[in-house]
Amino acid sequence: MLTGKKILIGVTGSIAAYKVAYLIRNLIKQEAEIKVIMTSASCDFISPLTLATLSKNPVAIEFIKNAEGEWENHVELGLWADLFIIAPATANSLSKLVSGNCDNLLLATYLSARCPVWVAPAMDLDMFTHFSTRENLAKLSKEGVRIIEPTHGELASGLEGQGRMEEPEKIAELAKDFFTIKSVLKGKTVLITGGPTYEAIDPVRFIGNHSSGKTGILLADECAKRGAVVYLVTGPTRFTVKDKNIHVIAIQSANEMYEAVQEVWPKANLGIFSAAVADYRPETPATSKIKKKSNELTLTLVKNPDILSWAGQNKRDAQTLVGFALETDNEIENARGKFERKNLDLLILNSLNDPGAGFGHKTNQVTFIQKNNKLRKFELKEKGLVILDILDEIETIIE
Ligand code: CTP
Repeated sequence: MLTGKKILIGVTGSIAAYKVAYLIRNLIKQEAEIKVIMTSASCDFISPLTLATLSKNPVAIEFIKNAEGEWENHVELGLWADLFIIAPATANSLSKLVSGNCDNLLLATYLSARCPVWVAPAMDLDMFTHFSTRENLAKLSKEGVRIIEPTHGELASGLEGQGRMEEPEKIAELAKDFFTIKSVLKGKTVLITGGPTYEAIDPVRFIGNHSSGKTGILLADECAKRGAVVYLVTGPTRFTVKDKNIHVIAIQSANEMYEAVQEVWPKANLGIFSAAVADYRPETPATSKIKKKSNELTLTLVKNPDILSWAGQNKRDAQTLVGFALETDNEIENARGKFERKNLDLLILNSLNDPGAGFGHKTNQVTFIQKNNKLRKFELKEKGLVILDILDEIETIIE
């Protein structure tokens, strides 16, 4: 139930506006409080009276609400809401949201809103795939606006493709999940590194490693499921994230990963560094393909930046930092040293000595190293379950 939750629904001018009646009805049934703002264009598609009746509140459309010149307070509306869902969101409105245009009440309210904002785009398939729409959605997503992806199917134009607004039942379900998630990760910004790095030798060859990138992907999906805003900086991987709202920053080299981490870490509450970063890179990658002229080839390697150490050195008090280590000898002692040196709050130790753990296995065995010599060793488990253990532990230490 959504008892007492205040949801503001913004309706823009698309044929999908009729679906919003079902969304409002669903949320009201779950005992949410609903207020509706409509653009004047949307009033051609569904009557304000219908939405006012369903939401049990007057619908706001213009800045001036009546003949007495009474003002519709967009700031108050923006601050009232626990969640603002703009559904349907047209290509035109998406573009205005990005540019900061506020020539109608809905847009002005968006600029004033402090709560999470979701948009459910609805438009014809070519409008949806147009570069301008893609860019606008990417910019909104980068700023934390959740995109409820439109679905595939028959469109009002008669064409088939992606552009149908997500079904009202599904949007209501997402809202319910949002309000019922209890995790402390909800609303937190999480930076995850994952995958291998590729260090160029020449334009076609590189030094890499066997990391599949799966751990980073699983961590990202689970953090998103627990309500976090997730940035995943990952080296090449064949796996993809399930949650479309995860910001995936695909990189190749350690230096590229370092650059991306430097940008995201200052705004993150939590960092989980699972990447298998190459410790060294060729000093000067050849600009054209190296020919096999001589019998020997010597490459000079130089050290890569230690990205996790940088994050540890630049960690604020309220930030939590988690690293991984793979050890073969003096495991606990080495891991403790790493924990201190890199200024971590939690270190996940993978031991190559444990049968069934490490590269190429579906299972893993980990030990958690924490402050005050706290140590916790887990059983051999399926990798997905190890991820749950890691995040459950993080939830107990995050501020
Ligand atoms: N890491 C990093 N940047 C690097 C190297 C490592 O961010 N250039 C991170 C990894 O993502 C991981 C942790 O640091 O979280 C691993 O630490 P590292 O010192 O590389 O451990 P090992 O790989 O075990 O290295 P070694 O024992 O050779 O020092």
